[in-house]
Amino acid sequence: MADLFSMKNRVVLLTGASRGLGRDMALTLAAAGATVLCAGRTVKELESTARAIARKGGKAQVVPIDITDEAQVREQVEAVVRRHRRIDVLVNNAGIIYREAIVDTPTDTFRKAIETDLTGQFVMAREVGRHMLARKYGRIVNISSVMAILGRASVAGYVAAKHGLVGLTKNLAAEFGPHVTANAIAPGYIRTELNVPLQQNAAFNAMLEQRTAAHRWGKPEDLRGPLLLLSSDAGAYMTGHTLVVDGGLTTILA
Ligand SMILES: NC(=O)c1ccc[n+]([C@@H]2O[C@H](COP(=O)([O-])OP(=O)(O)OC[C@H]3O[C@@H](n4cnc5c(N)ncnc54)[C@H](OP(=O)(O)O)[C@@H]3O)[C@@H](O)[C@H]2O)c1
Repeated sequence: MADLFSMKNRVVLLTGASRGLGRDMALTLAAAGATVLCAGRTVKELESTARAIARKGGKAQVVPIDITDEAQVREQVEAVVRRHRRIDVLVNNAGIIYREAIVDTPTDTFRKAIETDLTGQFVMAREVGRHMLARKYGRIVNISSVMAILGRASVAGYVAAKHGLVGLTKNLAAEFGPHVTANAIAPGYIRTELNVPLQQNAAFNAMLEQRTAAHRWGKPEDLRGPLLLLSSDAGAYMTGHTLVVDGGLTTILA
């Protein structure tokens, strides 16, 4: 049964691999046998992820990409395909957040969130997808959020982009079948640099523990199973789906 989730001989391009959820995802996919191409802007941190993978006997390479730089995305995807001959899996994990009331938010700030959390994923999926379609194989996994289901004050750009990413995932599924699947994961709250202000907020912590059936924050390792399902052949008949991994946050009324 372990073979069902095997990533052996798979080449994975993973954005946001430098820290947080992406770093754990990179280690998970490498441990399952994949060669992980660690993408992001901060090369030093990406190298640290790649070294951690190598220390465990896995295969990794650093690919500097700013997903908001279209020319760079195109260039790097072409370079990866030249070097590795293929990209089997794209994990669109990179993301940012800003926290500001709508009435105080400059348009450029909102635009930046959409650029990084939605347009960048579109460009990555288009450039990698073209190549997957030609090869007749591919898995695209977009990392959305429970903020694709709920709204929340002060994070309008993030909420709008994450809702959009669920829609984009459905459209990728519609256009990229039958050999390329596209799915999303919508994680609940998982401690990373992205949500330090919430981790430090006692009222938020109490609310989260009470509202989740799991009574706790998520951990990066909570995403390992869902990620492998959607990245491997185990999820071959799933496409256009958003898998919510939130300890019950959006399914129970507590
Ligand atoms: N943590 C949570 O509770 C949670 C919940 C739901 C969804 N998510 C989603 O999960 C993903 C990862 O979040 P995280 O919590 O791990 O955040 P994080 O610790 O802040 O990491 C974000 C990653 O995205 C990369 N990144 C940001 N802008 C980029 C750009 N323009 N080009 C390339 N890479 C870029 C960052 O690397 P560089 O800055 O070096 O480029 C970093 O590796 C995000 O999409 C986030 O929205 C997180």
